[in-house]
Amino acid sequence: MADPVHAAAALLLQQELGELGVDCLAPPAPPAALGLEQIATAVAGCHACPLASTRTCTVPGEGAVGAAVMFVGEAPGRDEDLSGRPFVGPAGQLLTKIIESGMGLRREQVFIANVLKCRPPGNRDPQAQEKEACTPFLEQQIASLQPRLLVALGRHAANHLLGCDQPLGSLRGRLHEKPGRPPLLATYHPAYLLRNPAAKRDCWQDIQIGMHHLGLTPPAR
Ligand code: URA
Repeated sequence: MADPVHAAAALLLQQELGELGVDCLAPPAPPAALGLEQIATAVAGCHACPLASTRTCTVPGEGAVGAAVMFVGEAPGRDEDLSGRPFVGPAGQLLTKIIESGMGLRREQVFIANVLKCRPPGNRDPQAQEKEACTPFLEQQIASLQPRLLVALGRHAANHLLGCDQPLGSLRGRLHEKPGRPPLLATYHPAYLLRNPAAKRDCWQDIQIGMHHLGLTPPAR
């Protein structure tokens, strides 16, 4: 039971603070967003899904703290699992080319992450339980960075970030705006572009929509 003497003292203090303009009944401030380093540390210790027992390294993502653009892929592959870095294999080299030769940015200026932070064995599709377990990390990264543009690479990332289940072809080619979210652009996954080079044209169109949103012009060739 509440101690009446302490309850009265608390009430008095609350009134006095109220007179000083301090509102004790105001809702607490929302917790400050975690920093990217803190999120990476939490990812490194995560055992929330079975991928923790098959991974070599966690792959939290990497890039600039103040990045205006955040690229989001599906999940680490073999090269990423071995190195702990996102998009470092052949698909990653193409992504780097898109960022550097296409957008005129340095790879270190953007942030690159994945929906899943651990490699699914044999690069199979992410499972619903794995995505659910990993979602808080991606959401914390978005909240921490607050990029001006999210670029979803491929159908899995696009559907995950948009909360839908649509073919990529129906999602690409425009910015998706949702209150409280950075605008999102969906485009082809670089691994798909390596298998289907004809789709690079469409990808370049998408990237130009993102560049226009960011006020970027292509570098001189
Ligand atoms: N494919 C992805 O979706 N992410 C990576 O990091 C590498 C390949």
